[in-house]
Amino acid sequence: MITLVRNIGELITNEDSGAYRKSGFAFTFSEGIIDWVGPEADAPRDCDQEVDAAGCAVLPGFVDSHSHLIFAGERSSEFAARMNGEPYVAGGIHSTVAATRAATDAELRSNCASLVSEFHAGGITTFEIKSGYGLDVESEARSLRIAQEFTPETTFLGAHVIPYEFSEDPDAYVDLVCGEMLTAALPYSRWIDVFCDRGAFSPDQARKILQAGARAGLLVKLHANQIESIGGIDVACELGAISVDHLTHTSDSDLTALANAGIVATLLPGVEFSTRSPYPDARRFFDAGVEVALATDCNPGSSFTTSMQFVIALAVREMHMSVNQAIRAATLGGAHALARTDIAVLSPGMKADFIVLSAPSIDFLAYRPGVPQIAHTFLAGKALTT
Ligand code: NIG
Ligand code: FE
Repeated sequence: MITLVRNIGELITNEDSGAYRKSGFAFTFSEGIIDWVGPEADAPRDCDQEVDAAGCAVLPGFVDSHSHLIFAGERSSEFAARMNGEPYVAGGIHSTVAATRAATDAELRSNCASLVSEFHAGGITTFEIKSGYGLDVESEARSLRIAQEFTPETTFLGAHVIPYEFSEDPDAYVDLVCGEMLTAALPYSRWIDVFCDRGAFSPDQARKILQAGARAGLLVKLHANQIESIGGIDVACELGAISVDHLTHTSDSDLTALANAGIVATLLPGVEFSTRSPYPDARRFFDAGVEVALATDCNPGSSFTTSMQFVIALAVREMHMSVNQAIRAATLGGAHALARTDIAVLSPGMKADFIVLSAPSIDFLAYRPGVPQIAHTFLAGKALTT
């Protein structure tokens, strides 16, 4: 069954060649895979069905490479306090840990499912989910087991904060994470992550945990430089991390180090918004030759949004990205941050994950903030009903 997608206002393929926004283009897919892309006038004649984009823009599905969807409860009062001048502190994580430990599997699954349906409605077709609100062996393993029902991109974040019961002996917690907890998490995890920042884990602790994960076969990513620059980037470079995430505070030499190591910088403007922090200037990253991804960081503490459209609007308005840069970061950048080569480019052989907007150009994603612009989300060629 071959499907032709035609009458496209502008097509974003993320291919390296040609203009970033292609006009008069169409594409076909079958069995969930793209098989042809080109000028509509040259489209194959033998298609079985068509999708009429009605003159609207079509682009690859968004790739959200950083989210924390397995949790219970909410922390709106913390958000309200921050808007009144309180700073964001890592310690707020403990209240979500208590709620998550107390929740049933069914509650965690249903909370996650409703957030995933928000992702889909907003055009996110691939997403990562971290653990990190269990912080004991059993709760971390079950968080990842449930996360894996929704995505293959699961990340073991046992090192989110030191749980209260280990506050007197943080090194014992690091040993637990590197040992029994890692073993329990392994069957359900593809990635390992550490929150390396003030109030969370030191660079030495992060190194030890990430090394243990890497030895066990997990891919490495890192939360760093959100609250303060304490040396996480050096650890990431040393260990061959794929992505470093947050990067609210970076020096020029940090950016040079990321560029030289080929590490993706995953920027999370929902966090700067929700913690009233300064936005990093993305122009510095591009000028230094760093590849940038954009992600929601959806979590109940520092960024409770599932909207990549909102993230794109913030990146354009507050981080000085062009719309083209922001769209690329929210699609191909995210794919690279997840070490995926099968998504986020609309070209033959790639997965037919794409979005049809209800607007003629991708500018509308930032130009109409707060107004949903996603008409249809297609996952492996199937229209999602959300
Ligand atoms: O990515 N920064 C660390 N972890 C999460 C926030 C966790 C929380 O506040 O619950 C983040 O922003
Ligand atoms: Fe995070």
